[in-house]
Amino acid sequence: MKPKIFITGKIPEKGLKFLQDSCQVKVYSKNQVISQKELIKGVKWCDALLCLLTDKINKKIVDVNPNLKIISNYAVGYNNIDIKYATKKGIPVTNTPGVLTDAVAEHTFALLLAVARRISESDKLIRAGKCNDWEPMLLLGSQMKSKTLGVIGLGKIGAGVAERAHKSIGVNVLYHDIKRNSKFEREYKAKFVSLNDLLKKSDFITLHIPLLPSTKHLIGKKGLSMMKKTAYLINTSRGPVIDEEALVQALKRKQIAGAALDVFENEPKLSPGLAKLDNVVLTPHTASATVEARTAMSELATKNILAVLSGKKAEFTVNPEVYRKR
Ligand code: GLV
Ligand code: GLV
Repeated sequence: MKPKIFITGKIPEKGLKFLQDSCQVKVYSKNQVISQKELIKGVKWCDALLCLLTDKINKKIVDVNPNLKIISNYAVGYNNIDIKYATKKGIPVTNTPGVLTDAVAEHTFALLLAVARRISESDKLIRAGKCNDWEPMLLLGSQMKSKTLGVIGLGKIGAGVAERAHKSIGVNVLYHDIKRNSKFEREYKAKFVSLNDLLKKSDFITLHIPLLPSTKHLIGKKGLSMMKKTAYLINTSRGPVIDEEALVQALKRKQIAGAALDVFENEPKLSPGLAKLDNVVLTPHTASATVEARTAMSELATKNILAVLSGKKAEFTVNPEVYRKR
């Protein structure tokens, strides 16, 4: 019997090719997030689950199939999965780090420039025929060179954003993380600072932390009030790390200069008032959406499955302690 793989949404074909000969594959192919009912049906049927970041893999779903061999998340973040419970049940959970680092760092860099130079606002204005002749005071933005970028969370993506901003534009880099990285500090003349210092001193703040109970609303009313009036906040990590309602208030009151967001607290819904603001740039969780990254993610997510099904350890397992239990 060939092992059964259930995939909860359409992903690039490249990865599926690895499975074709050796597995039975079912893909939920509607253009919407899979319903709980369909998810349960799929999980019951399969040996290996390949799921998306929009799928809540909680205790109930895990319990549907006591023989589930692996949960392969098509994402680097895995806050959609009850890792503790999967671990208790001995199920490896895998993710797709590395292959999307450049895509997300590039998108973050694009958002930084877009918000600083008011690209969305400018685009709307000219399309609407609302621009007069050239005006010296029209749509003045903020230069990035020699300004200070504060990176919260110095994983591969955070470092990638710092690299681009420092090397190509010449920003100064501050960072905050749970640990220091002296090589990074030397390479980018970066300074490690406390979160409060970073909030107070940065002109651009970019978030690259996982969503955990300890990082939920890390940036709220208090944090926002510490930021410069001229500062911009960029988030391509997970929506709930920012208190979005507090952010809308801060933006409305011009307490900060602007924000660029790829992720939202109640995705894909926006907090009331957010869509009406001019000083924001919004993208629909597309930071990793390049052909290259999404293709590589599909290859990695299926490779993780094939490794586990053949009794090996998957390269990117977020709960490697499960392998010891076997
Ligand atoms: C995207 O948000 C991811 O975690 O891969
Ligand atoms: C986080 O996922 C990172 O690699 O920065």
